[in-house]
Amino acid sequence: MPDVIELVSDWAGRPVRQTPIKGGLSHLIARVETGDGERWLLRVLDPAVCSAGLGIPMEQEIENTIRAADTGVGPKVIHHFPEVHALLIEYLDGVTLNAAQVPRHLDAIATACRTLHAGPRFVNDFSIFDKLRDFRRLCRTNGLAIPPGYDDILPTVADIERAMPAVPTVPCHNDLLAENFIAQGDEIRIVDYQLSGNNDPAFELGDIAAEADLDPDQTARLARAYFATGEHDSRVRLFHIMSNVTWTLWFSVHHGLLDRQADFDYAAEAAGKFARAVRDLDGVGRLIDDVRRH
Ligand SMILES: Nc1ncnc2c1ncn2[C@@H]1O[C@H](COP(=O)(O)OP(=O)(O)O)[C@@H](O)[C@H]1O
Ligand SMILES: [Mg+2]
Repeated sequence: MPDVIELVSDWAGRPVRQTPIKGGLSHLIARVETGDGERWLLRVLDPAVCSAGLGIPMEQEIENTIRAADTGVGPKVIHHFPEVHALLIEYLDGVTLNAAQVPRHLDAIATACRTLHAGPRFVNDFSIFDKLRDFRRLCRTNGLAIPPGYDDILPTVADIERAMPAVPTVPCHNDLLAENFIAQGDEIRIVDYQLSGNNDPAFELGDIAAEADLDPDQTARLARAYFATGEHDSRVRLFHIMSNVTWTLWFSVHHGLLDRQADFDYAAEAAGKFARAVRDLDGVGRLIDDVRRH
């Protein structure tokens, strides 16, 4: 990304050095440093990701990132370069989590989510059911491969959607895989607002559970750390299933439309997520009944 680096150097008034960070699945991410030790995180958005429906429109992501920073949970936005869709943000010193570490941080994660959700509303709304319809349409239109048996579960998805109550929405991240959490001591910070939007907070928790493959006890611990009551447990569990069902297609779309990152197997990830969704569909009837009762 040489031209962006030039823009950053011009803006900083001194030359900067960049070190690409691996791990992100969508965009170009690099640490940039000046000779005198100042450093930032550069996030150069890939317009193809948004146009494939894999992220919200770039201007919405930028505005939501600024709003998330207001809560102290997101990194501060230092500058942005609209001509190249790049954000220069606060570099967070800390430990990027992996899925196995998530269970150790459930209380801090719940606290970070509550703080984010209590902050300024985001500029767009987000529904995982709408997202699923968008992806399914995209796959059909473009003839993309999806895991065998996928459409067989859509009637159950319709039952889940019908059972979900309309609740007040809050500004949600909606994509809380472990790698979007950075632990700073006892505190958790949250990066990467590519799929953010106002949503049911129970989706946020179910999505965290799905991404870290939490078991039902761990999922209940997370839900209770957030809600301080067990009455939302089944809703969170249904959203856990919806996360795997829907993000399966995120990977199918990525694989079919823009599989450029040779060292990551997007199709295998789609198959893995779908297998987890099918595994969890076994207990779905009881969860739906429970959500209806509340
Ligand atoms: N502000 C930041 N400070 C420090 N590291 C960061 C920051 N933002 C992202 N990272 C690191 O870069 C990785 C990828 O960034 P991310 O924004 O999640 O990209 P992607 O959208 O491609 O997933 C993160 O998992 C994290 O390790
Ligand atoms: Mg990320």
